[in-house]
Amino acid sequence: MFRTKTCGELRLANAGEQVTLAGWVQRARKMGGMTFVDLRDRYGITQLVFNAETNAELCEQSNHLGREYVIQVTGTVNERSAKNNKIPTGEIEILVSSLNILNTSDVPPFTIEDESDGGDDIRMKYRYLDLRRNPVRKNLELRHKFAFEVRRYLDSKGFLEIETPVLVNSTPEGARDFVVPSRMNPGQFYALPQSPQTLKQLCMVAGIDRYFQICKCFRDEDLRADRQPEFTQIDCEMSFVEQEDILQMFEGMSRHLFKTILNIDIPTLPRMTWADAMKNYGSDKPDTRFGMAFVELKNNQPDNASREIVESIFPEGFAVFDGAAYIGGICCEGQADYTRKQIEQLSEFMKRPKIGAKGLVYARVAEDGSVKSSVDKFYSQEVLQQVKEKFGAKPGDLILILSGEDAMKVRKQLCELRLEMGARMGLRDKNKFSCLWVIDFPMYEWSDEEQRLMAMHHPFTSPKPEDIPLLDTDPASVRANAYDMVINGVEVGGGSIRIHDAKLQQKIFEILGFTPEQAQLKFGFLMNAFKFGAPPHGGLAYGLDRFVSLFAGLDSIRDCIAFPKNNSGRDVMLDAPGYLDQKQLDELSLAIDIKE
Ligand code: AMO
Repeated sequence: MFRTKTCGELRLANAGEQVTLAGWVQRARKMGGMTFVDLRDRYGITQLVFNAETNAELCEQSNHLGREYVIQVTGTVNERSAKNNKIPTGEIEILVSSLNILNTSDVPPFTIEDESDGGDDIRMKYRYLDLRRNPVRKNLELRHKFAFEVRRYLDSKGFLEIETPVLVNSTPEGARDFVVPSRMNPGQFYALPQSPQTLKQLCMVAGIDRYFQICKCFRDEDLRADRQPEFTQIDCEMSFVEQEDILQMFEGMSRHLFKTILNIDIPTLPRMTWADAMKNYGSDKPDTRFGMAFVELKNNQPDNASREIVESIFPEGFAVFDGAAYIGGICCEGQADYTRKQIEQLSEFMKRPKIGAKGLVYARVAEDGSVKSSVDKFYSQEVLQQVKEKFGAKPGDLILILSGEDAMKVRKQLCELRLEMGARMGLRDKNKFSCLWVIDFPMYEWSDEEQRLMAMHHPFTSPKPEDIPLLDTDPASVRANAYDMVINGVEVGGGSIRIHDAKLQQKIFEILGFTPEQAQLKFGFLMNAFKFGAPPHGGLAYGLDRFVSLFAGLDSIRDCIAFPKNNSGRDVMLDAPGYLDQKQLDELSLAIDIKE
């Protein structure tokens, strides 16, 4: 046998046993006539001891072991005199009787320990070394367990895991496609799937009834901490279901995952309409670990988030508020001691181009209940007291207010402010989970870039039956049978009930600006399939990377992906993407000048 034990399993009870271990040299220390070596494998670290008194030659050999050498040792398990209670094997050591150097190693470019001295870039370049580190490997172990439990749950509910092709046509998910040239069809391209959306719908037409797939999806979009160009979905679809059936089924899956992986019992998921999420939190993925919902002080701009007109609480006098369509704010409990400097910093944060607020108004509630604000010279104490009442603010609280001409824009700015204050106030604890469904999304959103309505989810999403008449009169206000699962302000998954009627699908394509010919060309395969008895169906997809990162408390999904891309979409380890040689380009009928 190559090894009889791993580096993580020996305990005091094994003392006296003869064992053979194999692994990497994490560290070697020479102390007097003894050499101590930390031997590491995936399972842990075991201390090896080479004693010059008992075997001088062997001890001398051990003094030449470098970091990350691969070795095999045989020896006896011995109780340590100085125990290390920080590691599970800390009560024992191995008195080595034979050493076999299996491979040498160059000096690694960073230390392979829990706290590494390597920066992000170097660790990505040598990702295979980074993966030897416990904290990184643990994330992959968690990911494995997560996917395993997903399969266990869905299998128990009768779902079939079905693979769909990766070389497909473009699916309209809203991002740009990655494309692959076809050698056998010169000038033609496959697209990599942004999701298997249409294929899973065809599985429903095929009578599969319950489908799932843990699959790679590809989207050529700008990268952020929660976005990778290739990422993994848990993609699911069901036939003969209503929205309620889907919400129940997948709430069940989340409950199973929280219980089996984190041993957490999650309560029934609350449901919040998209309109309420936008009105109260300025986001379709509100972080509900904490309150601080918005208070509207003025809104004369009815929109999909709120149709209600709110008369301004402020009398005329302050030009900024007088001219605003929307004034709203949040109450930060116990933060009245925020200094002028801290408020200035916050105001600068809000004015950054990414957020774009013009200014920040504050009001502190003093211990005696009086209100001191940055707009004192415009408003009487009486008005400020009314503001305090509106927020339900108590002595010691800090009220922060934003205003602007576009209600939705201000809500989004307020969302940033709320999240920032939530973080500063320690209310966004990674060990606390708050899950909810956001439902009743609008069917469409206006695109300034395209100057037309675009599908908010995707064009196969069905409208709410009661809103179908509005398709002809006011399509922008039509709500969809669409839902997202949100955890701690992260959209972990989303889906919808689909259209299964070819005529309604045709109409939706028209509203999206496709001529019947264009629709036939792009989606003919789906609309034709719908003519052959498509069952009512619906589904959703989770972002596996996002879900796992949340469970692991990571800031970026990169950390739970074995070989991720960097922010420019590069794999710095493989140095991909790269140039092709002329012969390959010619074969693919691609006329490109190769750059040096
Ligand atoms: P959607 O586009 O909302 O829906 O994607 C589903 C989930 O996938 C995750 N996700 C991503 N994760 C990492 N990097 C990305 N670039 C990325 N983009 C999306 C998110 C998201 O909630 N076909 C539909 C699903 C359906 O209707 O059934 C779809 O793809 O967690």
